[in-house]
Amino acid sequence: MTTSQHPERPRPAAGDPLHGEAERSGVTQPPHAGHVVRARPEPGFEISVDGRPATAVPGQTLGAVLYANGIRSWRTTRIGGRPRGLFCGIGVCFDCLVTVNGEASLRACQTEALPGDEVTTG
Ligand code: FES
Repeated sequence: MTTSQHPERPRPAAGDPLHGEAERSGVTQPPHAGHVVRARPEPGFEISVDGRPATAVPGQTLGAVLYANGIRSWRTTRIGGRPRGLFCGIGVCFDCLVTVNGEASLRACQTEALPGDEVTTG
């Protein structure tokens, strides 16, 4: 599956409490950052994580998918090689960065899993 086959990620809409937060804070964020996601009790789907299948439910963040599939850490620190994964879970620490469909440095805790996503870690 190529990047062009993936649906466009949702963006915060006017009226969303987080709309415009990036502009106000001066922090550069990917266009879908700040979109509030919530897991919904609908049929699940599959994504791949480093080439292995992982199950997800609609509205679940990639961080939640990784955690639910038994993946607790997916990065290491430059100094000391200490494990990193979900830490704050709210988009502040940037410990949870992943690459999704070729787009690097997305925060797993803030990025909604979409069917067919190809996630790479490390
Ligand atoms: S866990 Fe802290 S930014 Fe994602």
